[in-house]
Amino acid sequence: MDEVKLDFLGDLRRTHSCGHLRTVDVGNKAILMGWVHRRRDLGGVIFIHLRDRAGITQLVFDESKNAESHRRAQELSTEFVIAVEGVVNKRSPETVNPAIETGEVEVAVDRIWILNESRTPPFPLEDNVDVKEDVRLKYRYVDLRRPRMQRNIIMRSKISFAVRQALYAQGFLEIETPFMTRSTPEGARDYLVPSRVQPGTFYALPQSPQIFKQLLMVSGYERYFQIVRCFRDEDLRADRQPEFTQIDLEMSFPQEEQIFEVVEPLIRSVCEAAGTEPPATIPRMTYAEAMRSYGSDKPEMRIPPFHCVEDLFSGTALNFGDLPFVAIQIPNVGQLSRKERDEIKAFGQERGLRVYDDVKRLERDFPEQLSRLRERVGVAEDDLLLLAAWAGEKKGPLPEYTVLQACSQLRLHLAQKYNERHKLLDPGVFKFLWVIEFPMFEWDEEDQRWNAAHHPFTSVLDQDLDKLTTDPAHCRAKSYDLVLNGIELGSGSVRIHRRDVQTQVFAALGFSEEEAKRRFGFLLEALEYGAPPHGGIALGLDRLVMILAGESSIREVIPFPKTAKATDLMSEAPSTVPERQLRELGIRLINPQ
Ligand code: AMO
Repeated sequence: MDEVKLDFLGDLRRTHSCGHLRTVDVGNKAILMGWVHRRRDLGGVIFIHLRDRAGITQLVFDESKNAESHRRAQELSTEFVIAVEGVVNKRSPETVNPAIETGEVEVAVDRIWILNESRTPPFPLEDNVDVKEDVRLKYRYVDLRRPRMQRNIIMRSKISFAVRQALYAQGFLEIETPFMTRSTPEGARDYLVPSRVQPGTFYALPQSPQIFKQLLMVSGYERYFQIVRCFRDEDLRADRQPEFTQIDLEMSFPQEEQIFEVVEPLIRSVCEAAGTEPPATIPRMTYAEAMRSYGSDKPEMRIPPFHCVEDLFSGTALNFGDLPFVAIQIPNVGQLSRKERDEIKAFGQERGLRVYDDVKRLERDFPEQLSRLRERVGVAEDDLLLLAAWAGEKKGPLPEYTVLQACSQLRLHLAQKYNERHKLLDPGVFKFLWVIEFPMFEWDEEDQRWNAAHHPFTSVLDQDLDKLTTDPAHCRAKSYDLVLNGIELGSGSVRIHRRDVQTQVFAALGFSEEEAKRRFGFLLEALEYGAPPHGGIALGLDRLVMILAGESSIREVIPFPKTAKATDLMSEAPSTVPERQLRELGIRLINPQ
């Protein structure tokens, strides 16, 4: 870089942001500060687009009016940081720029201060240039200047503020819980922090504040919330990060209904903050219905459900015992080629399904069934209609769910593949849904045992209490998820507040009393000191912002995210540490890098 003389900020203060000047300001003096977004040098006149968080203002450096400022403007390159003082002028009609909010005015610069220079940015700060994600993440501080990232991060801040306002308005207290703690019950791997003072012992970073928020209810705080970082060492995907943020809340003496009554206005405030249409109400669906109609506990409601039609075919050759026979309908797909049909069948086959794609043939062989099916499903001329049945082996205690889940994958695959034709997966459409009455337990095929479907502190539905040990497969919980556009946004439950019931649930999960005490002893003990009925929920803030911002990865709404290998490419964390630091912690590596 050529030597550029830099100026001090001194006591200079800006009078306006770069997004605010309008024609009412014409004739006034303004002091602006920001980054050189673009420079156009027309010889005697230099135009600069000056950018700050609020927007862009055009600056004019006219040699004939102010030779010294014009000379210094020649030294500027993109991303230099400057301050200017000048007069707001109205632009002539033919030079008005409708693309920027300040486009009717410009500032004729009298004085300029060059506050800092900049190397050439690693990529242009525009939205519509294709930059590889690893380059963006390495230079995240530059990437965060792009308009899209600014919009997302600002939206995130507004959403957090709306959450706080909505919860304070409903009598919630914001209370912090520890990060250096013991293992929490969410079921992922923990991030561990070694203790120097007590070598050989470790803190676990919380996977959620679950236990502490329950303890706060035992302590009588009645309504708690926190916008809180959680840590989980799990396989990463577009909607999962190793550290992420929850809107976590808990309340005392609630029915499930009261928790929904807290969350729905919160969601409405959040939608308003994000500038999207708030849902008037959020519909509800039981887990059993969701599985039967969507094959998923997080139904994508922007496309129609599928239909189980085995009843129509009983007594025919298309009889699959007690397993479902599923009609999948995707609107407005139109004609498909042979190749496309083969691809669909192969996709189904890989997931254990036999796909019947030749509806004309089915119509010939089963005319009466097909006409009733069409009536039930409501298929239009251009819709894609397929039938799918299980071709694999029956698995687990609930084999019908395996079939329905495979059909769900096929339905979503088709919906995404043909979105260009039906355009139903519109990122500007927001379909919220409560899924309620989740099962209490989930079958673990690998370990051949029942696990807690939510977490082991979840209450059983009153009417299913006797199924706890006799029929775990059909034992339902007081637990619920909030789903948005096919993505799980949040999960919660009414908790167990009685020590005796908690013991029963641990027994059903195959936890010995010793193991339960070792892992969660302090919570179990707290239940013996006047624990009120309580319950709550945690919503994933990153996912909520992602969907409302129309993004498809939470990395786009987290300022400094990690890659799929949980690396921060900018700071290069995780990193090795000096031998001395390890020694202090009493740690020796088995396989040093
Ligand atoms: P759960 O484990 O379902 O429940 O988490 C609640 C919500 O947190 C978000 N979430 C994540 N977001 C990004 N990256 C991740 N790795 C990640 N993991 C979870 C999701 C999810 O719905 N303590 C209970 C809540 C309760 O019972 O009150 C809990 O943590 O949006």
